[in-house]
Amino acid sequence: MLSSNNRKEGIRMDGLTVKKISKTYDGKKYALRDVTLSFPEKGILAIIGRNGAGKTTLIRILSTELMPTKGSAMINGIDVIADPVKARNLMAIVPQEARAIPWMNPRQQVLSYLLYRGFPYNEASSRASAALKSLGLEENAKKLSRMLSGGTKRKILVATVLASEAKIIFLDEPTTGLDPISRKELWELLNKLKNDYLIVLTTHYLEEAEYLADKIVIIEDGRLVAEGSMEELRKRAGQEYSVRVMDATNIKLPKGVRASKIEKGYQILTNQKEAFALSNMLMKKKMKFSTNPVSLEDLFYYFAKRSINEDTEESGEGEWH
Ligand SMILES: Nc1ncnc2c1ncn2[C@@H]1O[C@H](COP(=O)(O)OP(=O)(O)O)[C@@H](O)[C@H]1O
Ligand SMILES: [Mg+2]
Repeated sequence: MLSSNNRKEGIRMDGLTVKKISKTYDGKKYALRDVTLSFPEKGILAIIGRNGAGKTTLIRILSTELMPTKGSAMINGIDVIADPVKARNLMAIVPQEARAIPWMNPRQQVLSYLLYRGFPYNEASSRASAALKSLGLEENAKKLSRMLSGGTKRKILVATVLASEAKIIFLDEPTTGLDPISRKELWELLNKLKNDYLIVLTTHYLEEAEYLADKIVIIEDGRLVAEGSMEELRKRAGQEYSVRVMDATNIKLPKGVRASKIEKGYQILTNQKEAFALSNMLMKKKMKFSTNPVSLEDLFYYFAKRSINEDTEESGEGEWH
C-alpha cells in the first residue's frame, strides 16, 4: 500500500521529522542535544521550556537559518539541512525579535515582505489584501503601525507569513509581552489557522501551549524531556487529575498517595482512579475540594524536575519511557 508516511524509515513525507539534532555554538556547551520528534502536516506544535532551554535554536535550525552540529530534519519530505533553498519555499518564520515596522502601514509591510520573497507586484498586492482581510486588519491597513496596539502589530507579522505561499509557519514567542486580551485574540486566530497550516510555536506561557497545541514538546537544558498531547503527557506522568483540598490541616490519605502543601491546603496529583476514589472520600467527609485535569504547569514541573534528577543520576541517552 502506498502511504504518505514512510514508516519503515520513520520519516514523515507529510510533516516534520527531526532526528537527533544537536547544536553547540561554541564547540563546548550543548544548546540542543539529540532532539528527535515528529509532527503531521497540519496542526500546532508547541515547544516549551524556560529561557535558554534551546527553543529558538531549534526553530532557527528547522527554518534553515542555522546549521545543526549533528542530526537531520525533514519537512514534507524535503531535507532542511541538505536542501535549505527548496525547504525555504515551504516555510515562513516570525522570529523572536520581529516587530512591526513603525513607519510602515500593515499593507506596506505585508506587501514588501511578499516582494522580497519574489512575488510579482500584482500577485503580492492581491495576496496582501486577502491576508489583511482574513485577519481583520483591513480597517487598519493604511494606518502607520506605530499608531496601532501591540496585539494588532503582532497580527501584522502573522499576516506577512500567511500572505506567502508557505504552509509551515514558525512563530517564536508570538505572544510575549501582549496584554491578556490581545493574546486571546491571537490564540483564536491561531486556532483557526491550525486546520490549514503546520504551525510550530514556542512560548513560555504554559496555558498558551495547553490551549493551542496538538502536541507539546518540553525542552530542558537542550534536551527533549517529554512530548505528546496533554492527554499523553498526563498519562506518561501518571498524573491525570489534580485534587486540591482546601482548609485542610491534617488529612489522612490512602496508602501511596502523596500530597504537597499549597496555600490553604494540599494538592494531590494522581491517576484518574485514585483521584475519583479520593474525591468520593472527601465528599463523604464534606470537605471543600476541587478535582481538575492536571495542568501543563504541573506537568512541566514534573518533567523538568525529573530531568534534573536524571542528570545527576547519569541516565545515558536521556530518554523517557
Ligand atoms: N548565537 C549564540 N551564540 C552562543 N550561544 C548562544 C547563541 N544563541 C543561543 N545561545 C545559547 O544557547 C542556549 C539556548 O538558547 P536559545 O535557543 O535562545 O533558548 P530559548 O529560546 O529557549 O530561550 C542558551 O544557553 C543560549 O545562551
Ligand atoms: Mg528564544
